[in-house]
Amino acid sequence: MGLGGMRGGIGGGGAGSGERWRWILFLSLVSVSFLLSFLFLFLSAYSSPTRLRLPGLTTARAAAGVRRGPDALPCLAYLLIGARGDGHRLLRLLLAVYHPRNRYILHLSADASHEERRDLAAGIAAAAPAAVSFDNVALVGTPTAGTPVGSSGLAGTLRAAAVLLRLHPDWDWFITLNAADYPLVTQDDLIHALSYVPREFNFIDHTSDIGRKESEKVQSMIVDAGIYLSGRTNFFRATQKRPSPDAFKFFTGSPWVILNRRFIEYCVLGWENLPRLLLMYFNNVMLPQEGYFHSVICNSLDFRNSTVNNDLRYKVWDDPPQTEPLFLTMAHYDKMVNSGQPFARRFQANGPLLDKIDEKLLKRPGHGPVPGAWCAGRKSWFIDPCSQWSDVNVVKPGPQALKLQKYINRTLEEADSGAKSCRL
Ligand SMILES: *[C@@H]1O[C@H](CO)[C@@H](O)[C@H](O)[C@H]1NC(C)=O
Ligand SMILES: *[C@@H]1O[C@H](CO)[C@@H](O)[C@H](O)[C@H]1NC(C)=O
Repeated sequence: MGLGGMRGGIGGGGAGSGERWRWILFLSLVSVSFLLSFLFLFLSAYSSPTRLRLPGLTTARAAAGVRRGPDALPCLAYLLIGARGDGHRLLRLLLAVYHPRNRYILHLSADASHEERRDLAAGIAAAAPAAVSFDNVALVGTPTAGTPVGSSGLAGTLRAAAVLLRLHPDWDWFITLNAADYPLVTQDDLIHALSYVPREFNFIDHTSDIGRKESEKVQSMIVDAGIYLSGRTNFFRATQKRPSPDAFKFFTGSPWVILNRRFIEYCVLGWENLPRLLLMYFNNVMLPQEGYFHSVICNSLDFRNSTVNNDLRYKVWDDPPQTEPLFLTMAHYDKMVNSGQPFARRFQANGPLLDKIDEKLLKRPGHGPVPGAWCAGRKSWFIDPCSQWSDVNVVKPGPQALKLQKYINRTLEEADSGAKSCRL
């Protein structure tokens, strides 16, 4: 494996690949029988060469049976992001949201090492053989900087969205998750619930009421050094402030979004000036991920009617609220589960709360993906039921699905009344 000097790239290894972005297609990592023990799977994943290769025949056969598109169940395109040290959490998160119908891109920012990215890739191939066969998980080989504020994060999100558009013509919603997030429902539940939602809707928490924070959020200007200095994660703050914009209205809100394909195309392809103009503007905003999509969608006559003012994540805020929600604890469990929301944040890594969610809500075995109707393997302590599969076009909603549907119905009713969306 060509690690030497290939900064940021674990996929394309040597071979002088001049591509701007390189991918690991997990197919290339291992080809092992599903019947082997997980230990052996893991070891063989470790010792196999990592190569960039296009999907082979086995992949095509498994993936060919997946029906996507307007007449099929929705297909979700997930972006899972983390920073150095988040590799294990991203693996666990991926297993918690994995379904062969969906698409996944994982992004560990540039501060993470090659080894961490390689371990993540190997871990996925070992823990989720379906990810190899369905070829629906990719890991960004040349990631963007991990600057905590500034435009690197937004660049990484837009780039992942662009790659998803290019690789797959068939997904319906783009969902961003962070290493500190976790699902509260199975993908069978979520896909089932979203199959009742018109696909023109975008779930994005937003407000134009910036209040006392205007000076900090809107008027202060920063430059993210991660954009133009390699290996840097710092930023500079301008001494001057700029006036609040009047060519468009500034919206802000949760950086975690669920956006449909049409809106992502609008932002990425940029045939109108609005998304590009706002991108240039948000380059110097402190927290562009908390405003870019929000401002684009609410300033666009075509899209503002399709916003649902909710990010579908359960969070608990301190009083007064800090920049991030509180870490959830066991004390929040009942309220969180009863909320009916599909995701929650923030979780401590490997805490007992995640174990309880795995056990009670997701029924996820410690080492494999969340079982769904697609898993055909026999359940026993040494066989992962999802190491074999049957029809992946069927979902079987579980006990949490009803709460989820009620919650989503409520958010749609609010959106319908128009009372809360994109109010100027
Ligand atoms: C959006 O909603 C407003 C108010 O209900 C309506 O006047 C307008 O025509 C709608 N726009 C689109 C593009 O549907
Ligand atoms: C949610 O709304 C859909 C579509 O209107 C309806 O079919 C479903 O029964 C509702 N579910 C719940 C739990 O209210």
